[in-house]
Amino acid sequence: MAKRIDVSGLTAYYGSHKAIEDISMTVEPRSVTAFIGPSGCGKSTFLRTLNRMHEVTPGGRVEGKVMLDDEDLYGTGIDPVSVRREVGMVFQRPNPFPTMSIFDNVAAGLRLNGSYKKSELAEVVEKSLKGANLWNEVKDRLNKPGSGLSGGQQQRLCIARAIAVEPKVLLMDEPCSALDPISTLAIEDLIGELKERFTIVIVTHNMQQAARVSDRTAFFNLAAVGQPGKLIEIDETERIFSNPSVQATEDYISGRFG
Ligand SMILES: Nc1ncnc2c1ncn2[C@@H]1O[C@H](COP(=O)(O)OP(=O)(O)O)[C@@H](O)[C@H]1O
Ligand SMILES: [Mg+2]
Repeated sequence: MAKRIDVSGLTAYYGSHKAIEDISMTVEPRSVTAFIGPSGCGKSTFLRTLNRMHEVTPGGRVEGKVMLDDEDLYGTGIDPVSVRREVGMVFQRPNPFPTMSIFDNVAAGLRLNGSYKKSELAEVVEKSLKGANLWNEVKDRLNKPGSGLSGGQQQRLCIARAIAVEPKVLLMDEPCSALDPISTLAIEDLIGELKERFTIVIVTHNMQQAARVSDRTAFFNLAAVGQPGKLIEIDETERIFSNPSVQATEDYISGRFG
């Protein structure tokens, strides 16, 4: 199958600190890939290299190549802002724009992208909120602030905001770690629905979650503290959790370390 994302030889630095080294992997369209591994092994850093957010951190720098379909994301003349439109991101803590209404939160990205008629905006906002399984809960209070919603609702609002601009890829960095179990299940169900339309890459510290939501799982690890994180293996999720190729993966998933 054609690859949506094709990473080769990706190394990322914070100043002189090499955080991740020589990562290569591919991601197929309309799939969910989970990143697992101990804290500090570079999962978030690697995720942020996939939409050029890593370089926003002072000293943040990348070597290697990331292809999104036929586009070299670090190629000359590529606008990082347009990359972030194609590769959206959802963060650990729901971060709706606090002073904006629910409607405006979802419309925010669209408004940045150009001019829409009011009716067009309303259509996309409704479609996105439906896509994020939030419409029924908020349709009667679209003009109330997004910050008035529960944590789980705020996270779905952030997902609605992210999908409103129709990205190819959705990156999620521990999107459920601040949520209660019910809200977590709602997001997991949603991920299953969203993968019909989007390619999803999710970092999770919860291995049951990785097993539940993902098609493929990538295990990252560090040889020692201070060493760069590396991709140890990536495979079908079922295989990673039943019969991984590498002993370190086996040790991690069976809870022997990390
Ligand atoms: N903003 C930053 N500045 C400097 N070093 C950072 C920054 N963010 C992360 N790091 C370092 O990069 C490495 C990987 O971190 P991170 O990507 O957050 O790992 P993970 O998400 O797997 O816990 C760690 O050594 C961490 O200290
Ligand atoms: Mg992280």
